[in-house]
Amino acid sequence: MTVSAMATAAYIVAALLFILSLAGLSRHESARQGWVYGVTGMGVALAATIVHVIKDGHDQAGDNSTLGIVLMFVAVLAGVVIGLWRARIVRMTGMPELIALLHSFVGLAAVLIGWVGHREGLLARAPTESPLSLWHIHNAEIAIGIFIGAVTFTGSIVANLKLSARIKGAPLMLPGKNLINVGALVAFAALTVVYIVVSHDRTDGTGTLVLGLLTLVALALGWHLVASIGGGDMPVVVSMLNSYSGWAAAASGFLLDNDLLIVTGALVGSSGAYLSYIMCKAMNRSFISVIAGGFGIEATATDGGEQGEHREISAEETAELLASASSVVITPGYGMAVAQAQYPVAELTRLLRERGVEVRFGVHPVAGRLPGHMNVLLAEAKVPYDIVLEMDEINDDLAGTDVVLVIGANDTVNPAATEDPASPIAGMPVLRVWEAKNVVVFKRSMATGYAGVQNPLFFRENSQMLFGDAKTRVDDIVGALSAARTVRAAA
Ligand code: TAP
Repeated sequence: MTVSAMATAAYIVAALLFILSLAGLSRHESARQGWVYGVTGMGVALAATIVHVIKDGHDQAGDNSTLGIVLMFVAVLAGVVIGLWRARIVRMTGMPELIALLHSFVGLAAVLIGWVGHREGLLARAPTESPLSLWHIHNAEIAIGIFIGAVTFTGSIVANLKLSARIKGAPLMLPGKNLINVGALVAFAALTVVYIVVSHDRTDGTGTLVLGLLTLVALALGWHLVASIGGGDMPVVVSMLNSYSGWAAAASGFLLDNDLLIVTGALVGSSGAYLSYIMCKAMNRSFISVIAGGFGIEATATDGGEQGEHREISAEETAELLASASSVVITPGYGMAVAQAQYPVAELTRLLRERGVEVRFGVHPVAGRLPGHMNVLLAEAKVPYDIVLEMDEINDDLAGTDVVLVIGANDTVNPAATEDPASPIAGMPVLRVWEAKNVVVFKRSMATGYAGVQNPLFFRENSQMLFGDAKTRVDDIVGALSAARTVRAAA
């Protein structure tokens, strides 16, 4: 078997492992196995590519291939070291911005690969036989690859800056913003056609100029698309950029003539697009307007200001309330992740269930800062899967619930989403916690959540605020319940 045939076989194995990985990652129970498939697939792909590159380099450059191979290993080693270091230090709450940064690398790589393809074309002699030659298709691939890559690159950088709060989350509202986006797309189409047409004669530098313009248009479009989207809608944007990065990788696969990159890019691209579609549905947003970077258009984030009087409750009083309840629903949010409160929350759940209280969790699809954020934390703390329910599964039961504990959630339990059509989060489905008999909200202050919108829930008659760090407060409640149990046992 030749090295090429072995590499192709390895690519097929890797592609199958990636498909199994996606299937595994779609359920909590099989996520770990999915991860193993993914890592194994990537290991196989990397090994096959390295062997292939070494063989190709040797065939083409003979003994002069050594420098290229050494550079490749240096790049792989640097990637491994930086990747391991970042993975070790990143906090769970910092994952989305790290993911956005990684997407930007894929975009940048696609741009660079496109430009290398262009440079190689300059060195090669253009075939003259037919107007629709492979040469033209190759040039179209260069233009499309650079376009998708550049949009992904700057879009992901803006997403990273917004998610890490280094720039404001509020949407950029340039006048005629939709026209700007459409204009950029038209300019891209026109420049691509010109690039393909002028590519036959590359000696006069016109092709380079056109491609340079196309790159600038795409970089500006990527920046504008994501800058125009408001903070609360960022989850969909991140998954959309995930999809774009997949298509950018697939475009690079065509240029590099690498089948695995095409297949893997298409898998990432289509699964990212499907995830975006699911999230759009969950957040009641239009999929098409997300792709067009437009749905933040009406968003006007406000700090809201106080909307009445709020009532406070202590940890001991909360413990008493819980002790007398027969049904409790816990709705976790970003604050639970910040406080790392999942472990005492799991302990509280265990204590209450021991007392015969029915405890369930209601998880909003965009609670926290990345898809499945809350599910991962709860699974980490060993909360049984069967009591962790999706928003749609729990919402109708909330009205009959004695106590809802809102632990570090805010936007995902905001009644303004359903009651105030002028709210920036209007139309987003939320957990209707306010329908329960009692609501206790765990947070440190009256500050707004991620979308920057005040929450009328805090001022409802059946709501009480339990201020402080969520982990400390849940620990206090667990302490109070345990103490009460010891007293009962002694008596
Ligand atoms: P948020 O609306 O972000 O609210 C989190 C709340 O936690 C804040 O009100 C904060 O109030 C409180 N908090 C922070 N640290 C705390 C601590 N140590 N102890 C107690 N409370 C603490 O949370 P959510 O309801 O989970 O909503 C998620 C938001 O993020 C949505 O707007 C969503 O669109 C957006 N988003 C989601 C994702 C994904 S994919 N899930 C990605 C990006 C953005 P204090 O400061 O007063 O404590």
